[in-house]
Amino acid sequence: MKLWGSRFSTALDPLAAKFNNSIDFDRRLWDQDIRGSAAWARGLTRAGVITSGEADELCRGLQRVWAEFNGGTFKFVPGDEDIHTAVERRLSEIAGPVAGKLHTGRSRNDQVATDFRLWVMEAIDGARGRIRGVQAALLAQAEALFGVMLPGYTHLQRAQPILFSHWLMSHFWALERDRERLVQSRQRASTLPLGSGALAGTAFPIDRERLARDLGFAGVSPNSLDAVSDRDFAAEFLFDAALLASHLSRLAESLILYSSLEFGFLELADSFATGSSLMPQKKNPDVLELTRGKAGTLIGLLTGLLATLKGLPSAYDKDLQEDKPPVFAAFDTLEAMLPVLAGAIATMTVKPDRMKAALDAGMLATDLADGLVGRGVPFREAHGIAGRAVRRAIEVGVPLDELPLAEWQSLSPAFDESPGDVFDFDKALARRNAIGGTAPEAVKAQLAEARRVLGGG
Ligand code: ARG
Repeated sequence: MKLWGSRFSTALDPLAAKFNNSIDFDRRLWDQDIRGSAAWARGLTRAGVITSGEADELCRGLQRVWAEFNGGTFKFVPGDEDIHTAVERRLSEIAGPVAGKLHTGRSRNDQVATDFRLWVMEAIDGARGRIRGVQAALLAQAEALFGVMLPGYTHLQRAQPILFSHWLMSHFWALERDRERLVQSRQRASTLPLGSGALAGTAFPIDRERLARDLGFAGVSPNSLDAVSDRDFAAEFLFDAALLASHLSRLAESLILYSSLEFGFLELADSFATGSSLMPQKKNPDVLELTRGKAGTLIGLLTGLLATLKGLPSAYDKDLQEDKPPVFAAFDTLEAMLPVLAGAIATMTVKPDRMKAALDAGMLATDLADGLVGRGVPFREAHGIAGRAVRRAIEVGVPLDELPLAEWQSLSPAFDESPGDVFDFDKALARRNAIGGTAPEAVKAQLAEARRVLGGG
């Protein structure tokens, strides 16, 4: 069965038909397509186009088609060009001629836009839960390892001591923004295109507001031309996925570094690490590297769709059929990636001793300068003195905190005694107690806030 064809004298060339078909990927929309059709049948009844008995027949038939898909027994036939054709073809086999009334006032253009929006809205609900899984793993480790200290890095150079929990939580909050972004994207996706016809609107008195409510949309599109060609929701989903993946990639990159022998800060569980076919000693972080690698692929999916969209003339163009594979691929990638990363984080072993051993007094040079500020030295000058102290310690060949008193005194008259008490890591941490700082007290508040956020769903 073809949904079109009567004005053509020959059949479509087989290769052209194969090229034209989208059934291989848009079959994933079967559930949304059938729900959309059932709602449309009810809408047609309310509009006085078909009787409620006819709508009942259509809905019963659609219910059977749905059950076939759900049970895995639905059989596609060669003429099934896309999911809309396949569902209607099967419906006509089951329900007979009444099936021919379903497509009244509707086009595949508003139909596919409706199906796909529904699918993306539901995909977002799933992705949000999986992000929560990674956040929960980060938070559980942050709570379990509270108090563990390690060097914080900038430019990948040792910078200042921080709590490991603080580092873990830095990734938690990025994921929280990703989750919020998806929620907001879902709200924007929740606009019903159905009832826009092919481009100019439907000629039947369909109550679109009611249709929107029946299908779980928050509102209806205000312009039929825009409605059938708007793929912002798909591009937004891909952006959300790409940015989320970028965050996961950064997290993975740090874990890869920290799990190397050179850092030795943590070790992946055997269940989340892989070996080498040649080097028996190797323990490789493949799952983290794939997380990093797939982030690149996801960014490509976004730019690919944007390139498809950018030159389209008004309303529906078949180019838009290319919107679905990248969105499905992005969703599938996230579905695979997020739980694996959550598992790798939940099961990794952290090495507090190695982290502590990587701390050195030089990382408290800022605290040295801050201490001088406390004695009335302007910060710029204090920074200079502390910098000279660092250089002097290197010249003398001792750690900064072991510079002899005479050296301190020649650096600044403010040193009437050696600044030994400045070089206490615990105190240095505790000083960073403003909201968002790494002081244990501030991190504790952060963990409580994160618990609250996770509890909120
Ligand atoms: N398979 C098509 C798609 O995914 C459905 C819409 C077809 N519309 C059309 N006018 N050919 O975009």
